[in-house]
Amino acid sequence: MAKQQDPFLTLRSVTKTFIDHGEQRVVLDGVNLDVERGAFVTILGSSGSGKTTLLHIVGGIDTPDSGDVLIDGSDLTGLSDTDRTRFRRRHVGMVFQLFNLIPTLTVQENILLPAELEGTVDARLRRHAEVLLDRVGLSDRSETYPERLSGGEQQRIAIVRALAHEPLFVLADEPTGNLDAENSARVLSLLLQLTREAGRTLLMATHDHDIARQATLVCRLQGGELTTHSAAHALETR
Ligand SMILES: Nc1ncnc2c1ncn2[C@@H]1O[C@H](COP(=O)(O)OP(=O)(O)O)[C@@H](O)[C@H]1O
Ligand SMILES: [Mg+2]
Repeated sequence: MAKQQDPFLTLRSVTKTFIDHGEQRVVLDGVNLDVERGAFVTILGSSGSGKTTLLHIVGGIDTPDSGDVLIDGSDLTGLSDTDRTRFRRRHVGMVFQLFNLIPTLTVQENILLPAELEGTVDARLRRHAEVLLDRVGLSDRSETYPERLSGGEQQRIAIVRALAHEPLFVLADEPTGNLDAENSARVLSLLLQLTREAGRTLLMATHDHDIARQATLVCRLQGGELTTHSAAHALETR
């Protein structure tokens, strides 16, 4: 069991190497991180620095070569593939740069999909999804297909999908990377509001220093190493 004072998320000596055209590429080279429950963490780093790899390891989509990934007292690296998939579906909400909505499903079907896969759709969850859809200003679009929506609208739907099943934490991979300034601001503000008021921990990969400014913890990935800073310090030295 997790003790109250334990960090919500701990990474210990996490390593990941990919083989690319016969060459080894060390993407994570002994990454350590402690994240408090309810924190908003941003991960800065140039393209190819390993931000997505790190988020995928935290979210149980990928596994590290070595090291520990402790989330709310559970060690993800000790789980079988099946249990890791179950953990991910039940406890992780994901928001992607390219929205990743399924084009053949309606907005409502997309939103309920993670819970459908887990067999946990019930009246309460449907109601919660409706409330969230209303909060992002799209309650009249539930029967629409994604292609009829703008990028900003698709990302607002993806936020609802990430949160409807009440995940333990939320991972956002450059969620505003494909949006104009106005839509970026709206998507970011919704994501922050909705995760904060539910007390959920949010980890976000981003290039955007204005986003990092709002984080409780700013991390930088470079050369396989992760350094952490308070938001103010990271931005002073950019
Ligand atoms: N499945 C994979 N196979 C081989 N190389 C990969 C794989 N996934 C990522 N990489 C490589 O790992 C590095 C980090 O990728 P990524 O985590 O996507 O970085 P970022 O999200 O910061 O742009 C890149 O060089 C990428 O090409
Ligand atoms: Mg990436």
